[in-house]
Amino acid sequence: MQEKEVLIKIEDLKYAYEAEEGQEPVFALNGVDLEIHKGEFVAIVGRNGSGKSTLSLNMNALLLPTEGKVYVDGMDTADESKVWDIRKKVGMVFQDPDNQLVSSIIEDDVAFGPENLGLPSEEIRKRVDEALKAVEMYDYRKKGPHLLSGGQKQRVAIAGVIAMRTECIVFDEATAMLDPLGRKGIMSIIKKLHSEGHAIVLITHFMEEAAQADKIVVMSEGDIVMEGVPEDIFDKKSELEKLYLDIPFAVKMAAALRERGFDIPRNVVTEDQLADVLCASK
Ligand SMILES: Nc1ncnc2c1ncn2[C@@H]1O[C@H](COP(=O)(O)OP(=O)(O)O)[C@@H](O)[C@H]1O
Ligand SMILES: [Mg+2]
Repeated sequence: MQEKEVLIKIEDLKYAYEAEEGQEPVFALNGVDLEIHKGEFVAIVGRNGSGKSTLSLNMNALLLPTEGKVYVDGMDTADESKVWDIRKKVGMVFQDPDNQLVSSIIEDDVAFGPENLGLPSEEIRKRVDEALKAVEMYDYRKKGPHLLSGGQKQRVAIAGVIAMRTECIVFDEATAMLDPLGRKGIMSIIKKLHSEGHAIVLITHFMEEAAQADKIVVMSEGDIVMEGVPEDIFDKKSELEKLYLDIPFAVKMAAALRERGFDIPRNVVTEDQLADVLCASK
């Protein structure tokens, strides 16, 4: 198999937030190495304060390295002249849907990014319509965001990124404030975007969501402490417990079924995969 091309390359990245007066700066990242490949789906997990958001903000030059390097499609994020080219490659969706929408009309919000790119108006129109259809919010395009649920607002925020046609979309706990139904809607959009070729970086507290990724990265205290395919990560149950991380329901259920004599392959990590295996053995 051909090696996938690297989209984001992070080399020995250290990041320190500015310290209070008279205090030593505290490093939120202590030397992170990570590659995100084109079209790859990577989940990042880790307890609060482990550095996930700091890492993600370094992926499109919203933060710049204190030490080390971040390259996006070969462009150094520290190169000021490249900042807009970098943001055209990597888009972000954040946790709070209310902080992401700026206009009083939904379609204006989605047009905001493409307008800043200076695109012709027909092109903007086309992108906005496509993006709103992709997240099933086209019928709401003339409405105001205040009428929407949290999940719908997140879908509009995602449409704003889709309209930018970025190769990679980073979701920083974008489902954390949503109810289970809203969360499911966002996850199915994420999976669709991945299947259409977008690279996805999904920061999440929900192990069921992380299980859908090609690769899981586990962070603790500003370092990457584990990295691998979901079945290998979920095999390390006691190490995860020490990091206050759980394993998905489907993985626990598969283990319980194995104990009772069912033959469940170890790469079964999602509820859908488990249901498929059980149906096949019927
Ligand atoms: N704006 C900030 N100023 C100072 N320290 C911060 C700031 N944002 C985050 N931190 C600190 O950096 C560390 C990593 O935080 P963060 O990247 O937000 O972790 P996570 O997203 O995993 O919860 C934490 O110790 C946090 O307190
Ligand atoms: Mg965070």
